[in-house]
Amino acid sequence: MTVQDLLTGLYSEEGRQNPYPWYAGLHRFGPVSAVPARAEHRTVAAVAVGYDLIDGLLRDPEWTKQPPPGWQEHEILRTFQTSMMFVNPPDHTRMRHVFSRTFTPRRLGALEPVIVRVVDELLDRMADAGSDVVDFVADFAYPIPALVMAEFIGIPVKDLVWYRERVERIDELLDVAGKTPQRLAAANAAAEELRVFYRELLAHRRRSPGDDLLSGLVEALDSGEVELTEDELVSNLIVLFNASFVTTVYMFSNGLPLLLAHPETVAALPGDQELTTGCVDEVLRLESPVHFLARAAPADTVLDGVPVARDDDVLIIIGAANRDPARFADPDAFDPTRPGPPSLAFGVGPHFCLGAAVSRLEGRLALPRLFARFPDLTVTETPTYSGSLFLRGIDKLLISTGG
Ligand code: HEM
Repeated sequence: MTVQDLLTGLYSEEGRQNPYPWYAGLHRFGPVSAVPARAEHRTVAAVAVGYDLIDGLLRDPEWTKQPPPGWQEHEILRTFQTSMMFVNPPDHTRMRHVFSRTFTPRRLGALEPVIVRVVDELLDRMADAGSDVVDFVADFAYPIPALVMAEFIGIPVKDLVWYRERVERIDELLDVAGKTPQRLAAANAAAEELRVFYRELLAHRRRSPGDDLLSGLVEALDSGEVELTEDELVSNLIVLFNASFVTTVYMFSNGLPLLLAHPETVAALPGDQELTTGCVDEVLRLESPVHFLARAAPADTVLDGVPVARDDDVLIIIGAANRDPARFADPDAFDPTRPGPPSLAFGVGPHFCLGAAVSRLEGRLALPRLFARFPDLTVTETPTYSGSLFLRGIDKLLISTGG
């Protein structure tokens, strides 16, 4: 099988459901492969799967993110390009600094009781539902990050259903080859509506500030303490909330079938913090919510024997790096006690996930509570994945709570 065959397989329906055999095939060609000039999906010059090579690329500030052509003409792309996730230094450093100041250990500590309360309320509701079959995503995995982040940022809970529709339209655009004219139009409209939404919220916090992130940011902005325009603040808030929640939903929904396949581990989770932390990290390694990143070459270069021209993009498959046999012994096996390098599920280097500690905390607090409350939990249908290779996850998961 050639690299082109493997990529065609990866982008097929089958590959989108289970990309791992294709990733294993790519690993056999080495840490990086050239994408043939006439390949069907040639938007990138090379595809990287090796852990060490990817770790090096992501840490190298010379390897940057490229704006898509014509981004100025689309509200959603303009929003991305004025947010930290999509830009390069010095703008990236400036914007990230403003937000990383707010993600302090103290704020994280303050989030702990919020997460516990949200999780316990959801578990009560699941127990009260009467019927023992529930959708784990709708009733647990989705509301946790949505409610926790809404409280953290300061988004009214009543607006979350409305908000979710906009997030979905934006996420659809992010898939490989996702930028169809219809999807762009839908995401542009979503971005415009979200901008109005945030401008109104910010105006409200100016009049009556609270303890949330929005109030803190508005105050910092108005006092001239931070180097950020209001337009950039709104873009970053849109991107921050988007980044924070489908990813975390998938941490839970992708993780549940994996965990339930190991009943002895699940039974030991309540009360064992070290094992719980190991499980959260192992779920993120084996079933990473984000699979694809990209970076552009700063100059004509050769990556492990593969030539890449200046400004050409390299597709970086962190979902494959996390199963690199050169770095993880028996890479497809679930082992929450495995030693070894951290997974690349949250990226690494200058763009390392700003919310990694928040998601890991949500996982560490929610999973033992879930299994303590429902020790006989089972999945009642074979799950299907979203079909996106950028954000890979289970959107619906029927479970029996054993009640
Ligand atoms: C399990 C859940 C999550 C996963 C798997 C995840 C994954 C990632 C990855 C892979 C990146 C790196 C992007 C790159 O290098 O191009 C990233 C960046 C980012 N994430 Fe997360 N994320 C998660 C949760 C969160 C949460 C909860 C938040 C917010 C509280 C968040 C906010 C961000 C932001 C703002 C960035 C951009 C940082 C920058 O460009 O400097 N993420 N995330």
